[in-house]
Amino acid sequence: MKHFLDIADWTSGDLGTMLELAVALKKEHRSGGNKPLLAGKALGMIFQKPSLRTRVSFEMAMQHVGGHALYLSPQEIGLGERESIADVARVLGGYVDIIMARTFDHDHVQELACWSPVPVVNGLTDYSHPCQVMADMLTIYECFGRLEGIRLAYVGDSNNVTTSLLMAAAQFGLHMTVGSPDGYQPSEAALDKARELSQNQLSVEVTTDPAAAVADADVVYTDTWTSMGQEEEAEQRRQVFPPYQVNDDLLSHAADHAIVLHCLPAHRGEEITDDVADGPQSRLFQQAENRLHAQKAILVYLLQEAAQMAKKGNKKDKKDKKDKKKKK
Ligand code: CP
Ligand code: NVA
Repeated sequence: MKHFLDIADWTSGDLGTMLELAVALKKEHRSGGNKPLLAGKALGMIFQKPSLRTRVSFEMAMQHVGGHALYLSPQEIGLGERESIADVARVLGGYVDIIMARTFDHDHVQELACWSPVPVVNGLTDYSHPCQVMADMLTIYECFGRLEGIRLAYVGDSNNVTTSLLMAAAQFGLHMTVGSPDGYQPSEAALDKARELSQNQLSVEVTTDPAAAVADADVVYTDTWTSMGQEEEAEQRRQVFPPYQVNDDLLSHAADHAIVLHCLPAHRGEEITDDVADGPQSRLFQQAENRLHAQKAILVYLLQEAAQMAKKGNKKDKKDKKDKKKKK
C-alpha cells in the first residue's frame, strides 16, 4: 500500500508525475470541470488541529472528481484516546477508500498508515507538511516554468513546512537558503536526510542573517513564528523573530522578479507585512488555491495506484487458485 506521508518517501519521477497531473487537472477544472475519476470514492479526514485550506481543499477536490469527503473532528475520533490508532485505521479503512490525517505527532500518521488497509495522506504533522509543499512546487513551476535551479529562500522558524521544502528542494533540484535564528534552524537530521535524498547534489545554506538568506532569491518564503501546538512559546518567539520579518526592506535584497510565498494562515505584522502580503510580488492566494489542484492529483494518483495493485492482487489470486486446481 502506497501512502503519501512525506516528500522523501517518493521518487522525484513520481512527484513530477503528480505535478504534471495537477497541472492537467487544474486546466480541466478551469475549462468546464473535471471528469469523475473518483466517482463513488470516499475520503475520511481526521483533524487533530484546526484548518481552513487543508479541510476545504481536500473536500472540494473529492467533490470535483465525483467523490465524497467526511470531516472527522478531534472530539469525534479521540485518536489514540477513545480508541487506539491501530483500531481507528482498520475500522475507518473499512468504510472509506483513502484517509487524510492532520496530527501533532508524526508517529501518529505513520501508525495510521501502518495499520490502514487504504492509502493515508499526511495533512500536516509537527514534522512535515508535504501536501502544502506540492502546492508550493506547483506555484513556483507556474511562475517560472521550471523548478530546477530556482533559488528558494526560507526566512523565519524552521518548522514542518521548512522540512518539507528541504526535501522538495532535494527532489526537484532547487537551491535553498534558510535564514533562521540560532535555536530555530533546521535539524542536522533533516539536512542530512535532504542531502542524502539528493545524492549529495542538494545546494543548501543555513544562516542567521535574513538579508544574506534572501540575497538574489527567486522565491522568498515565510511561515508563522509559532506553529500549532507551540502557543505557550508565542511571547518568547515574538522577542526573537522580528529581524526575520518579510517586509519591503528585506524583500529588496531578493531578485527584482522574486515572488513571495507563505503557506498561510499569516500573522500580518509579525512574519509578514500587509505591504508584502498584498503587494505585487505576493503569490499567496495562487499558492493557497493550488492546494486544491495539487491534492486532487495526489488523491487520483494514490487511488489509481491502489486500484492497479488490487487488480494485480486479484489476478494473482486467480492464478494461485488455478495452479492449486491443476495440482489436484
Ligand atoms: N496551509 C495550511 O495547511 O492551512 P490550514 O492550516 O488552514 O489547513
Ligand atoms: N507551521 C504551521 C503551518 C500551518 C499550516 C503550523 O504547523 O502551525
